[in-house]
Amino acid sequence: MSNRTLALVESAARHLVPTYRPRALVLDRGLGARVWDIEGRDYVDFSAGIAVSALGHGDPDLLAALHAQAQKLWHTSNAFLTEPPLRLAEELIAASGFASRVFFCNSGAEANEAAIKLARRFAARAGRGPERRVILSFEGSFHGRTLATVTATAQPKYQHGFEPLPGGFRYAPFNDVAGFDAAFGDDVAAVIVEPVQGEGGVVPAAPGFLAHLRARCDEMGALLIFDEIQTGVGRSGKLWAHQWDGVAPDVMTLAKGLGCGFPIGALLVADAAAQTLDFGSHGTTFGGNPLAAAVARAALRKLSAPELLDNVEAQAQALRDGLHALDEKHQVFAEVRGRGLMLGAVLRPEHSGRAAEVLDHAANAGLLLLQAGPDVLRLVPALNIGAEDVAEGLARLDAALAAWRT
Ligand SMILES: Cc1ncc(COP(=O)(O)O)c(C=O)c1O
Repeated sequence: MSNRTLALVESAARHLVPTYRPRALVLDRGLGARVWDIEGRDYVDFSAGIAVSALGHGDPDLLAALHAQAQKLWHTSNAFLTEPPLRLAEELIAASGFASRVFFCNSGAEANEAAIKLARRFAARAGRGPERRVILSFEGSFHGRTLATVTATAQPKYQHGFEPLPGGFRYAPFNDVAGFDAAFGDDVAAVIVEPVQGEGGVVPAAPGFLAHLRARCDEMGALLIFDEIQTGVGRSGKLWAHQWDGVAPDVMTLAKGLGCGFPIGALLVADAAAQTLDFGSHGTTFGGNPLAAAVARAALRKLSAPELLDNVEAQAQALRDGLHALDEKHQVFAEVRGRGLMLGAVLRPEHSGRAAEVLDHAANAGLLLLQAGPDVLRLVPALNIGAEDVAEGLARLDAALAAWRT
């Protein structure tokens, strides 16, 4: 490690609030599915900034959109209209197939926070008292780090020490119809669910599960919120992951891939609830700023292209085949699961809790990987990744697994 890398790693350890434990390397630039550190070493990027850089690094159309808008106008606040967010709203509504209005914000947690507020107010308008505004979420879910969204995130490790948590949240087991029915009732204002649980281990909703939630919400007048912050804008191989199930939500939240690295979040809402967040009831200074919206428009156009979605399917299959071959060679994976280019390779029980070690070896071998919990390697590369980078990433994972197993 060079002195410059060492100094920056030490600076991070000394100056940043230690909410993350980054690897001892300092990234400097990227192109496509590759990044380089400040020492000039290259990495195949299977992490894409945690499922964000959906078009890889340095995409020319995103750069052109960013530069063009940067020279015109960066920010005005929502007290004034600008064209990029209005066009983006029109395009998202058209692409969604269910929504009639959009609220823009800056991150996933903020989009879910807005969805929770919308659901509570929708129930209030239907005459339901505060005791009948429960938000039902699922064990293993992840919805963000604000107090409301971390409470919806039904994983104690994210909540510990932040008590008292806000009231009016309840949890049901994921992919368990009977367990859901037992937790559901007429005090529920909304059900929030990821069509594929991401941070919880890359677990897709079981066939028919989302349809069951839809039916029960309709029966009780509760809203169904799909958190597509990680699964949305093409990651699953369809523009929206819920299209695999043929079930539409009342509210959908987006972030991550929508701006491909430029921060933006969005809440899309169907007509029946579209007027719920009315004048003065919610807001954000930066949400839908023209720079972010200009980039997101270019991103959405490219991520909606059939060739891009076909590439997701083709490269996902190549990754799955490669992971199965690596398992045959190294006996490491119990299962490969997920949807499209959101894949989880689950470590065999004898390697339980050791995903972080594999990530260290992967970085040493020139591969950026993620984990989803202590037992699952998470692969979420750029959606336009090519066959060569997939093959090279798998070769580096092979080397990493060999080093780890010796
Ligand atoms: C499904 C899901 N919801 C919400 C969030 C929170 O998004 P953000 O980190 O942008 O606040 C994440 C982030 O990982 C996510 O995966």
